[in-house]
Amino acid sequence: MVPRKIIIDTDPGQDDAVAILLALASPADLDVLGITAVAGNVPLPLTEKNARIICELAGKPDAKVFAGCAAPLKRKLVTAEHVHGKTGLDGPQLPTPDMPLQPEHAVDFIIQTLRTEPAGTVTLCPLGPLTNIATAFQRAPDIITRVQEIVLMGGAYFEVGNITPAAEFNIYVDPEAAEIVFKSGVPLVVMPLDVTHKVLTTKPRVQAFHDMGTEPGRMVAEWTDFFERFDKEKYGSEGAPLHDPCVIAYLLKPELFKGRMINVEIETTSDLTLGMTVADWWGVTDRAPNALFMGDVDADGFFALLTDRISRF
Ligand code: BDR
Ligand code: CA
Repeated sequence: MVPRKIIIDTDPGQDDAVAILLALASPADLDVLGITAVAGNVPLPLTEKNARIICELAGKPDAKVFAGCAAPLKRKLVTAEHVHGKTGLDGPQLPTPDMPLQPEHAVDFIIQTLRTEPAGTVTLCPLGPLTNIATAFQRAPDIITRVQEIVLMGGAYFEVGNITPAAEFNIYVDPEAAEIVFKSGVPLVVMPLDVTHKVLTTKPRVQAFHDMGTEPGRMVAEWTDFFERFDKEKYGSEGAPLHDPCVIAYLLKPELFKGRMINVEIETTSDLTLGMTVADWWGVTDRAPNALFMGDVDADGFFALLTDRISRF
């Protein structure tokens, strides 16, 4: 099988890091054309640097990392150091990356790639705020119909919000960008908190990463250890949700997930519910479905896949 071509758009973040490692560990399935950094969990200079740290950890210093938008389309950047720490990748000691940042802007790379690759062959995988993707769509509307699919982490329905009572972080940070993406007509697969809160880093699952005895295994264990403390305190859960790896796991094994094809709209005006994903899960409107919105995941199957792939480094 020819590996599926993807662009990972990301704001690393420990869970973004695990997602990128999962993709880079799976070259027979996924061809990572580029990694585009966006401001989100931490500001852009850190997210692009973190993306390079992760590529080097994966032994892929030739991977292409691009820096994109430093701020949301219309709003001031909101970050999440309270979850991810000052660097975005707090936990283990971090090396300084040697591999260069690509000179091109991430948005130009996305536009160029979608124009040059055959139409319908490139999948976008956003793991952070949707600013880079929306900017590319606004600047080059001709690329929209050339996207194969967008598989993204963002939003929530049953779990409602994490950064506010109503909104999930990635959508909240740039709701105008999310609206552009959700209205674009590109086939969308959405991994909301409803799913990601089911893939928890329990003690035995983290131990399995430690036991690999490799550098990527150790880093994943230490990142999830760090990330865990916040969610354990907040939710009283057994471990941290591995949000962003759900996107890559879906590309590798879609049968792990269950969802519904529904209409999802983004709230962009209300102060109280800004960034809410208004998901018509029960089909109570006649609004046209625009997203495959996931609701369930086989968590053991997910961790079996993740552990197997990370152990290949
Ligand atoms: C999302 O927000 C970020 O903190 C995580 O990396 C993930 O993409 C979860 O709401
Ligand atoms: Ca993220």
